[in-house]
Amino acid sequence: MAANKKLLFLPGDGIGPEVMRQVRRVIDWMDRKRKITFDVSEGLVGGAAIEAHGVPLSDATLAEALAVDAVMLGAVGGPKWDNPSDYTKRPEAGLLTLRKELGLFANLRPAVVFDALVDASTLKADVIRGLDILIVRELTGGVYFGEPRGITDIGNGERRGVNTQVYTTSEIRRVARVAFELARKRGNKLCSMEKANVMESGLLWRQEVTKLHGEEFQDVELSHMYADNGAMQLLKNPKQFDVIVTDNLFGDILSDEAAMMTGSLGMLPSASLGAPDANGHRKALYEPVHGSAPDIAGRDLANPCATLLSFAMCLRYSFNLDEDAKLIERSIQNVLGGGMRTADIMAPGMARCSTTVMGDSILRELDKLAS
Ligand code: IPM
Ligand code: MG
Repeated sequence: MAANKKLLFLPGDGIGPEVMRQVRRVIDWMDRKRKITFDVSEGLVGGAAIEAHGVPLSDATLAEALAVDAVMLGAVGGPKWDNPSDYTKRPEAGLLTLRKELGLFANLRPAVVFDALVDASTLKADVIRGLDILIVRELTGGVYFGEPRGITDIGNGERRGVNTQVYTTSEIRRVARVAFELARKRGNKLCSMEKANVMESGLLWRQEVTKLHGEEFQDVELSHMYADNGAMQLLKNPKQFDVIVTDNLFGDILSDEAAMMTGSLGMLPSASLGAPDANGHRKALYEPVHGSAPDIAGRDLANPCATLLSFAMCLRYSFNLDEDAKLIERSIQNVLGGGMRTADIMAPGMARCSTTVMGDSILRELDKLAS
């Protein structure tokens, strides 16, 4: 196959570069063993970009992100660049700009409990064994981007901080459509979460999801939940859910909750997708759910699995390489099944290993599975 699969690597900050290095190794492996070749370029984002260019995402890097088939991102942020007074100069702004400019409105965050890691959760094993849910978070609207926003002086030593929660019908419908379509390929169940009891934007959300369901997705089982109840139900009985669709802010919070229920943030991937173009191709960015973990950065301790699983999502959603995605996922399962553990998921009786050794083991397992 021709090397027309264009990937932009944005390793970012903290542990980003070291976990992304393991993806490089899998890409080399695919080239050698599967004859699937990617054209990989690399750029800077977050604190790394602030150091080099004074901004968390340069125009040139953004232009490149717009031109490739998919972006793979490591992590952004670190104490060095925590400059709370100007949000546009924070490392996170690089990520938010990418999401907005690429139009990545649908953020897929699976929360899957691996059999080998059932005991890593703080929840009882029975509650989470076999858990496999998918949170679809709206990513380019809502209170993250709504106007007006800002802090203003209102006299007499008083200040006022404002952010705006706002959604239009088309913003709600396009993310709900992605969630319904994904539900169809899974357990065929969708739960939509908002706060229709207190927010007009939530009421509109509920109405539009219901309407779309009636128009196009009557075969999918739809339910609605207030997001606070959703947070509770996730802890009480997470297996009642299949796919959850929710707005940007609730999705941020609920996906952290769902991630931690699995007990292994270092295992969770994500995909952020845009609207399909005329050829059905979507702009896309893939990144682990975990952050830059500055405390362990550069020490070969980080868990590369979330990033490798994000690359598996990239193969599946951007390149239709489902078989290769499954190879990576199975390799990781088998390596965990064999007892290998990075520090974050270490348990008594298991074999503690470094980032690199985890990568070595996964490559060996890939060799076995693919032969
Ligand atoms: C996430 C993160 C981001 C968000 C930050 C880093 C801007 O928490 O991807 O969940 O709030 O969306
Ligand atoms: Mg978050």
